[in-house]
Amino acid sequence: MPNTRKILVLHGPNLNLLGVREPQHYGADTLATINARLAELGQGYGAQVQAFQSNREYELIERIQATLSDGTDFIVINPAAFTHTSVAIRDALAATKKPFVEVHLSNVHAREAFRHHSYFSDLAVGVICGLGAKGYEYALRFALEYTPKAG
Ligand code: DQA
Repeated sequence: MPNTRKILVLHGPNLNLLGVREPQHYGADTLATINARLAELGQGYGAQVQAFQSNREYELIERIQATLSDGTDFIVINPAAFTHTSVAIRDALAATKKPFVEVHLSNVHAREAFRHHSYFSDLAVGVICGLGAKGYEYALRFALEYTPKAG
């Protein structure tokens, strides 16, 4: 049976620089490569995977708000530095009530103390961190198979 889900992959600030940005933390893959892999994975399931990156907090908020009317079933989000600062993006996700997985390329818990707190993790269905670009693929596979809990 084809999977008709619509999944939104959101990338926060500076992730447009993947491939050149601190590869010791974030790996060598570019964002375009990662997004192409995710789109291909989704297609294999017959699902629609749309990716969006922004360095601007309000654009991420507006994209999240748009999921209220665009048929998005699930969100995979790497909020990047906004993970540790943005009550506004957290509130947008809470408002939409869309299930989401939080992804980080690096293991934020093995890094500076300010990266240990996330404004998102307690709302997320799950969190993947430290597995590099593969983390997005695992999150997407999860999203493709996700069934909301009843009640
Ligand atoms: C990140 C971790 C954040 O602390 C950092 O600000 C990022 C990327 C990650 O994917 O490991 O920009 O979210």
